[in-house]
Amino acid sequence: MSAAGQLRGRTALVTGAGRGIGLAIARRLGREGANIVVGDIDADVAKDALADSDFPHLVQPLDVRDEAQAAAFVAAAEQRFGTVDIIVNNAAVLDMTPFTDLTMDRFHKVLAVNLDSVLTMTQAAVPAIERAGGGRVLNIASIMGLRGAKDSIPYSTAKGGVINLTRCLACELAGKNITVNAIAPGFIDTRMAITRTGDHEHQSELFQKFYLGHGKIPLARAGLPDDIAGPALFFSGDDSRYVTGQTLLVDGGLSATF
Ligand SMILES: NC(=O)c1ccc[n+]([C@@H]2O[C@H](COP(=O)([O-])OP(=O)(O)OC[C@H]3O[C@@H](n4cnc5c(N)ncnc54)[C@H](O)[C@@H]3O)[C@@H](O)[C@H]2O)c1
Repeated sequence: MSAAGQLRGRTALVTGAGRGIGLAIARRLGREGANIVVGDIDADVAKDALADSDFPHLVQPLDVRDEAQAAAFVAAAEQRFGTVDIIVNNAAVLDMTPFTDLTMDRFHKVLAVNLDSVLTMTQAAVPAIERAGGGRVLNIASIMGLRGAKDSIPYSTAKGGVINLTRCLACELAGKNITVNAIAPGFIDTRMAITRTGDHEHQSELFQKFYLGHGKIPLARAGLPDDIAGPALFFSGDDSRYVTGQTLLVDGGLSATF
């Protein structure tokens, strides 16, 4: 652990940090001195992923859809480390369902994980963050929350909701000295990039020719989980003290062109 890290003495909760973007964020905040509390529905995966970490951490089984589990998660963090200063609402599931196959049940199930949980987890964490004198909420949205795409109604609608929920929560929580921001990643190389047929999306002809070959991603590569960790550190630390309600697109420039 970096004793001189900018988050020394603070406790950061990261949901869905057993792998992928959440894990990269947890590791980065931990390297900056934060105590890390990870909640994941796959708690065993998270325990294995963090087993070698040299920063203080706690892994809790957590289904972000469950209000009682959300409360227990926050209580466990506060009990172990004394304060809760930061929550990163990262857990989500990908859903690609064609319009003609989409049922309301499916729609609501995806919204429950990807949108409702951001409110549930934030409501659970805010009293503890208030007791700490204020802090940070960071939501992981998606560029799909800013654009329409085929077969993505539940996922994109949920992520669009996360972006405006971020603005609303920023207004609600400013008086408690809590900032609320979001990161909207573009194409990032995680489990979510593996398609239903088992192929890697970033190896596909479409991605290689259209997105890379034709300059649709100006930085000409897919992102890595660590590409999200630096911006997450900014929103978790003191340098973002006068930023709230914002969504930063971390997409290699994809949204800068057409
Ligand atoms: N990978 C991308 O290209 C990309 C792009 C834009 C946004 N995002 C967003 O980034 C975030 C992280 O995605 P990722 O790519 O690392 O995905 P991932 O599938 O690798 O990781 C998601 C994690 O969330 C956990 N999770 C799922 N449902 C949960 C639940 N109900 N309760 C608790 N944990 C749960 C999973 O177990 C997993 O560890 C998500 O919000 C995702 O929508 C990803």
